[in-house]
Formats: sequence, structure tokens, C-alpha cells
Amino acid sequence: LGRPFYYYEEVGSTNQVAKDLAEQGAPHGAAVLAEGQTSGRGRLGRGWLSPAGKGIWLSLVLRPRVAPWQLPQLSLLAAVGVASAIKEITGLEVGIKWPNDILSRGKKLCGILTEMRAEVEITQYVILGIGLNVNLDIEDFTRDLWPLATSLKLELGWEVPRLPLLQSLLYHLEGWYQIWEKEGFVPVRESWKKASVTLGRLVKVEAGNEVYEGRAIDIDGEGRLLVEGADHTLRRFTYGEVTLRI
Ligand code: BTN
Repeated sequence: LGRPFYYYEEVGSTNQVAKDLAEQGAPHGAAVLAEGQTSGRGRLGRGWLSPAGKGIWLSLVLRPRVAPWQLPQLSLLAAVGVASAIKEITGLEVGIKWPNDILSRGKKLCGILTEMRAEVEITQYVILGIGLNVNLDIEDFTRDLWPLATSLKLELGWEVPRLPLLQSLLYHLEGWYQIWEKEGFVPVRESWKKASVTLGRLVKVEAGNEVYEGRAIDIDGEGRLLVEGADHTLRRFTYGEVTLRI
């Protein structure tokens, strides 16, 4: 992963740049990195704060040879890869909130946005967008984000060099991707579950205009979240926003 590598000072969104490149035939593994983004995109239609020089704002073009229904697994895989890289470079143990938010002390350190083009049976491409808050200071965040978001620098108290982190990130993502291609989702799921801060917890899941509360029990073989409601009925979620209760 990371070949070819496109580096920009500033773009609107690296995901958009990667998407355009994918439409023009960019190969599996192509990467787009920008120092800053002017309109970074987040999940569920939200934005993503991306100040210049302070984070890793990265998008990868993937062309997995799998059916579209297996694609949600990729974003869980990405979270596992990011957690491995953070651990290797900084020693920090992070938690993963379903599906793929990376948290430290309950605050968000990294978000992942996957966008794809798939037809009925075939996957054309997947854009894996990773936004890792590396050296953001508290004043880089808007005030409303203070209780919700953090950076590696804020967690560790020191400035983290971005290049080794980026190298480690590509290395671990590639490693997990190869495992996933060879052995499927089972080992990824294992590792995801180890880092999970969701399972066993009381959660609120907002999916579309539905809100469901219950206990997060497990993720299934496709990466969907299983939540048990008060009446013991099980619900499966493919997407959604999870809020941890207790
Ligand atoms: C989330 O909402 O949790 C996902 C945030 C993803 C942000 C990254 S930054 C690089 C890439 N380009 C974008 O516009 N978004 C993703």
C-alpha cells in the first residue's frame, strides 16, 4: 500500500481526490495524503477538522477481490491496523468503538471513512479514508469538540513524528489486508474484539432515524454489531452511530 503515492499541501478532501483517481483507473494501493484539508469529510455526512501539518489525513484506493457484502469488514480491519501502528510508534493502548472509531480515554483520536463503488456482484473500488489526530493542540479543536476529541500529542504530552507513524500505518494496514485476503475475517475479528471498548457495554445505536438501546454483545462474522435489548431481542447493525452508556 502506498504506491503510487500522491502528496498534496492542501486539498478539499483526500477521499474525493482518491475517488477521482480511482475512477480514472488508479491501482490498488494508491495513496493520497494531504497536509491539510479544507473540507474534510466525516461519517454520516459530518465534517472532519483537518488543520495543516497536525494530522495524518490519508486515503487509500483498494480494489478487493470480494463481494460487496464483505466490504464493511474492511473498515474494522482499518481500525485494527491504525491501533497497531499507534501502539508500535507511541506505546499508547487505544480502544476501538464500533465500527471503527479509535478512542483514548473515551475521546476520539482517529476516524475512518470508507466510500465505495460496487455493483451487484462486483466491487469496483473502496476508498479508505483515515483521519488521525497526531499533533493537534487543544486550540486546534472547536470548543464543542473538547469533550469528544483528542490527539496523540494531547494524550502523550509530546509531539509525535508523523513520518514513522505513517510508515507504520501503511505497514500494518498492508499486513492486516494480506491476512484478511488469505484467512478471511476471523483473525481480524479476533484482534478487533481485543481492542473493543464497545462489547459488553450498554449502548445507544442511532441508525437512520431509528434509536435503539441495549447491551452490545458481539460482532458477527460480517462485522455487524449485535445488540440485545431490554426485552432480550437481538438486533444487528450494519451501520450506525454508537454512544457508550456505562
Ligand atoms: C469519521 O467521521 O469518524 C471519519 C473521519 C474520516 C476523516 C478522514 S481524513 C482523510 C479522509 N479524507 C476525508 O475527507 N475524510 C477522511
